[in-house]
Amino acid sequence: MVHVGSTADASLCGAPCIITDGKHRGRNPGRMVWWDSWFRCVCAPVIEAKDTCIMSEEVIVARESENLTGTIKVSGAKNSALKLIAAAILGRGASVIHNVPLISDIEVMSDVARAMGAEVVRTDHTLTVDTTNVQDKETPYALVSKMRASISVLGPMVGRFGHARVSMPGGCQIGARKIDMHLVGMSALGVQFNLDHGVLEASVPDGLHGNDVCLEFPSVGATENTMMTAVVANGHTTLENAAREPEIVDLANMLNSMGCKVSGAGNSTIEIEGVPLESLHPCEHTTVGDRIEAGTFLVGGALLGGPLTVTGIDPSFLRMAILKLRAMGCDVDYGDDWISIRRTGRLKPVDIQTLPHPGFPTDLQAQFMLLCSLADGSSVVTENVFENRFMFAEEIMRMGADITIDGHHAIVEGVDKLEGAPVSSTDLRGGAALVLAGLAAEGETIVRSIGHIDRGYEDYVGKLRHLGADVERCLMNDDGSLVALQ
Ligand code: UD1
Repeated sequence: MVHVGSTADASLCGAPCIITDGKHRGRNPGRMVWWDSWFRCVCAPVIEAKDTCIMSEEVIVARESENLTGTIKVSGAKNSALKLIAAAILGRGASVIHNVPLISDIEVMSDVARAMGAEVVRTDHTLTVDTTNVQDKETPYALVSKMRASISVLGPMVGRFGHARVSMPGGCQIGARKIDMHLVGMSALGVQFNLDHGVLEASVPDGLHGNDVCLEFPSVGATENTMMTAVVANGHTTLENAAREPEIVDLANMLNSMGCKVSGAGNSTIEIEGVPLESLHPCEHTTVGDRIEAGTFLVGGALLGGPLTVTGIDPSFLRMAILKLRAMGCDVDYGDDWISIRRTGRLKPVDIQTLPHPGFPTDLQAQFMLLCSLADGSSVVTENVFENRFMFAEEIMRMGADITIDGHHAIVEGVDKLEGAPVSSTDLRGGAALVLAGLAAEGETIVRSIGHIDRGYEDYVGKLRHLGADVERCLMNDDGSLVALQ
């Protein structure tokens, strides 16, 4: 038994302009659809300015809204689709992945796969990932530094080539986010690592072999990388204290469709019978619904009253969130693939502790902190999964929330009302919560740094508007003037 421990842009306006990291230099772009605007800013090449331009930045403007009501279909899970793209590397040929969200993280992961030699083609929400010509190439720092999840190509690359070179990952600034457990898990299967000027080189001098592996902590990424390596190792692997997130189950299901033999995913022990790499083949797979997007909209319903229904989501993915929403005084109902919420009285305070699944998800911590900040009394929010994940609290305090941070605890005294203010997204989930806060607050809230939100929420503004929110995506010029984009 090996115990794994911690030892180890372009022109928006048609006129010349420069865009870098969501900052635009250009003339008034006029009105355009959200996706067009987003695509140009994230994906289009930089064009040099030839005339005098003004500095501007895309922002989300949220105004006090009466309610969020109606039905919204959630997109496919970001955290699943990212790994499914990586998994496709194992089965030489064209895998087809449905229900893939239109978000910038997926574009980055598609570019990572392209950098390895894959052909990635999107048709609406379906990605075809043809890995026929993937080669043993280094994943470029320029891509990996944008998104930590790029590290998930490590397992499939080692599985397919017995060798990989991956730049050390970046991502949200939520704690140290080490990868030691990925390395120890894969080491137990015969992988050797060498860090060379910021590039992690993995090799398999004596071949991959199955083993008994016990993770020190049920890390999602370490479980995925170890699993994607073990599927082609010689012999049997037992992975204990594995992460139990629904996205792990989704990944195991896709791997099995490719010819792998994985059982027990969703439990803390996963059994993997290694199969020859040559026996693996491409597959067709549909990504599960995004529980965090669903949870975010349910929080919106709880905040403004609802009734609001999310569809395209298995309610069992959100048991703990539903329990807490009920404890806060909300009526929550659900069926096979939908969840509804309605609130009639004032929100009640509640204590929340984030934990690995099936515990309360850290990715819903900021959204629930927002609910607590308007509850009738004091709540304690404890963050156990990531260090430094209370950045959202500082921004919401600018809107009048009463929060005291004490280590990994946040003591939240409910207030009667929040006030609109200029705020900045500090991370993906915090950004989404700030927009919701703006809908509940008096006046107008301008949320900046919305690139974080685009990383994980498909057409967030469009979906909120569909539910009745007074929210716009705008271009904010240096002088503070706003031009509506959506
Ligand atoms: C994934 C999700 C993220 C979610 C998190 C926890 C993706 C793309 N992201 O991130 O949205 O918030 O799960 O549910 O799927 N750790 C180590 N060493 C390691 C690995 C992790 O110390 O080798 C620590 C991390 O710093 C963190 C904790 O363990 O404090 C959890 O990390 P992990 O479960 O691995 O999360 P990610 O896979 O990065």
